[in-house]
Amino acid sequence: RIVYLNGTWLPEADAKVSVFDRGFLFADAIYEVTAVIGGKLIDYHGHSARLQRSLSELGIPCPLSEPSLLDAHREIVHRNGLDEGLIYLQISRGAADRDFAYPAKAEPTLVLFTQAKPILNNPRSETGISIATVPDWRWERRDIKTVQLLYPSMAKMEAMRRGADDAWLVEDGLVTEGSAATAHIVKADGTLVTRGLSNALLHGITRASIIDLARGAGMAVEERAFSVEEAQAAAEAFITSATNFSTSVIKIDEVIIGDGTPGPVSRRLRALYTESRL
Ligand code: PDD
Repeated sequence: RIVYLNGTWLPEADAKVSVFDRGFLFADAIYEVTAVIGGKLIDYHGHSARLQRSLSELGIPCPLSEPSLLDAHREIVHRNGLDEGLIYLQISRGAADRDFAYPAKAEPTLVLFTQAKPILNNPRSETGISIATVPDWRWERRDIKTVQLLYPSMAKMEAMRRGADDAWLVEDGLVTEGSAATAHIVKADGTLVTRGLSNALLHGITRASIIDLARGAGMAVEERAFSVEEAQAAAEAFITSATNFSTSVIKIDEVIIGDGTPGPVSRRLRALYTESRL
């Protein structure tokens, strides 16, 4: 694979970052993941807007103009011949002597790489996934897409240890989101319920698209928090993310959701998303 690093295109083995990079020492970095289908970027505009917001929350300057960043995304797809998968972008504050205070002057480190992954025909989207709930022990600025992903990683490992595919994170009895995806449920009357935006969760780009598509299709949408018990009693549950689009949840802890197969509303929303984005 070819990797983009600070303005140059390199074979991945030659792409090297300083051990003093604050992304490495302090997780002082933000990232984005954009899906690619048939070589085309999916929902790029939303990812680019969220990237700028994450950078401004941390006071990291964007090393490239927005048009150059888009060009770099297109070029890496082309250089790596990526048909289906994702583009990972990371911007760290850069390298400096180790100090908790931000350095007065640092050159941000910008990395882009690609990873092939089946998104459209992912077998999990046919069968659905099982979820284990774990406490949400992350920090309180989950709206910033930082690379502090150790707790979500631990949560996923704990879920897998319990025989589930992934974790939902729970705070005060309410589901915040998945380890790396937005959590949604569908009520018996077909209403989509998804947590409202706040600092408690990442403002999912796929979430925003799914809400628009649901409203466009005449569905009722409630943006509010829901409990684990409400999710377990719901007609359907599903997750959304750039790398999943949407995937049904068929079990939460020991409780089967609906009839234990992907439900009609989540399947319809996935179809609407796929049709509108390809
Ligand atoms: N994760 N919530 C969290 C905590 C996430 O990490 C993600 C995305 C989402 C969904 O956001 P979006 O629809 O914009 O992808 C929600 C990416 C895919 C990842 O970390 O790989």
